[in-house]
Amino acid sequence: MNERTLIANLKEKIGEEITLKGWVDIRRDHGKLIFIDMRDQSGKVQMVALPNHEEAHDSASKLRPEWVIEVKGKVNPRPEKMVNKDEANGMLEIEMLSVTVLNESETPPIDLRGDGREIGEDVRLKYRYLDLRRPRLQKNIRLRHDVMLYIRNFLSKERFIEIETPLLSKSTPEGARDFLVPSRIEPGKFFALPQSPQQYKQLLMVAGFERYFQFARCLRDEDSRGDRQPEFTQLDIEMSFVDREDVMDVNERLLIALVKELAPHKKIQVIPFPRMSYKEAMEKYGTDKPDLRLDKSDPDLLAFCWVIDFPFFEKTDPSAGSGQASGWTFTHNPFSAPKPEHMEWLMQGSAGEHIGEILTTQYDVALNGFEIGGGSVRNHTPLALKRVFEIMGHKEESINAKFGHMLEAFSFGAPPHGGIAWGLDRLMAILQNEPNIREVIAFAKNGEGKDLMMSAPSDVSPEQLTELGLRVVKGKGG
Ligand code: AMO
Repeated sequence: MNERTLIANLKEKIGEEITLKGWVDIRRDHGKLIFIDMRDQSGKVQMVALPNHEEAHDSASKLRPEWVIEVKGKVNPRPEKMVNKDEANGMLEIEMLSVTVLNESETPPIDLRGDGREIGEDVRLKYRYLDLRRPRLQKNIRLRHDVMLYIRNFLSKERFIEIETPLLSKSTPEGARDFLVPSRIEPGKFFALPQSPQQYKQLLMVAGFERYFQFARCLRDEDSRGDRQPEFTQLDIEMSFVDREDVMDVNERLLIALVKELAPHKKIQVIPFPRMSYKEAMEKYGTDKPDLRLDKSDPDLLAFCWVIDFPFFEKTDPSAGSGQASGWTFTHNPFSAPKPEHMEWLMQGSAGEHIGEILTTQYDVALNGFEIGGGSVRNHTPLALKRVFEIMGHKEESINAKFGHMLEAFSFGAPPHGGIAWGLDRLMAILQNEPNIREVIAFAKNGEGKDLMMSAPSDVSPEQLTELGLRVVKGKGG
């Protein structure tokens, strides 16, 4: 068995001899006394090599930042006047008895002390495995874990179960461009990576699971921004036999509970979360994700709000060449149901006079000016769903080719259902007061959507292309 004390547990070991394993943070060489700050996953501690432990002193003099070491030492209380109250281990110090070097390190290309904000982001992302060593990012990634664990437990207690859905799938009309994956077995055909698990989660409702959630990776081929990555994580939820209020209720309770538990220093400005219609939001704030904070200088204020009653359809821009013949497209989600009082207008289909007035059951949740989630009650009858696609100008044949599987599934007793998805990265960035979501994602893409650490995307071999029946036309595309 590996005898090892974690740095966080040193306080209970005062007076004892222990073994630590971790990284050299800094070395301060005062000749006779050599101080080494050491780090492990649990914290940091100051160690001292005294000249009377000759071997340890000699080894300590050779250590450099980021070397991996094993140290046997004695946990001594610090003399009263040396106590540092600002540090977790400020009341103690390790007297080094022996040092084993487990691995050396080159001088890191970026400074790992400090919060790293002054360092160019591309070099941080290239050396992300080093960048992640800094305490700020360690904290961000660890809180993300805590939040995910809290959500899993909360939802499990409320009878939700987590179900994984495929990544190799069929194109979903969510409004963004798909990432495509060529099929080797059927050359010329493609899978699409999911923009969200929307269709699968609805099919899970048809399958009788009633309450589903998933931390789902979503892939959208769109330009990156501070709050947008081509690959991101949703907390995805779907529920059967519910109306809008049920979905909003469980999500609001979950958000409040997790802030109280995991970010207790944050203050939620108003509970219950205020609600406003899309129309009101646009008229009053000029945006559908208003920042309602009364004091924007307070980094610990959280102003959640629900925005509801969005128009279902909007006119397509003819110059954009959307390919939709009818001139209408959905604003949020083609699988949404209209508000019950507008169902009749929807059922009139493409010939209806009120298409532009139909409101959807869509609800978005905004936080401090960011859209952190959105969902809706769905159309669960095949006919209503079909009407949506007709209004968008799809002909019978194209509806069947693209959505036939959904219409068929709904013909076998689909329960009424609805759901939501949170942008987990956005929520984490706000909880951690980070200016963008890259700071809360372990391996983020840069602003151009590239993975600089892996150098992806990259060329593939001619053999791989041949096997897939593909040929690259140089100079094409973005
Ligand atoms: P929507 O497309 O609104 O809905 O996505 C839900 C939430 O995901 C977050 N989000 C993103 N976060 C980071 N990078 C991106 N590129 C990105 N795109 C979206 C946002 C958004 O509110 N299937 C529906 C949900 C449903 O109806 O249940 C959906 O995906 O915070």
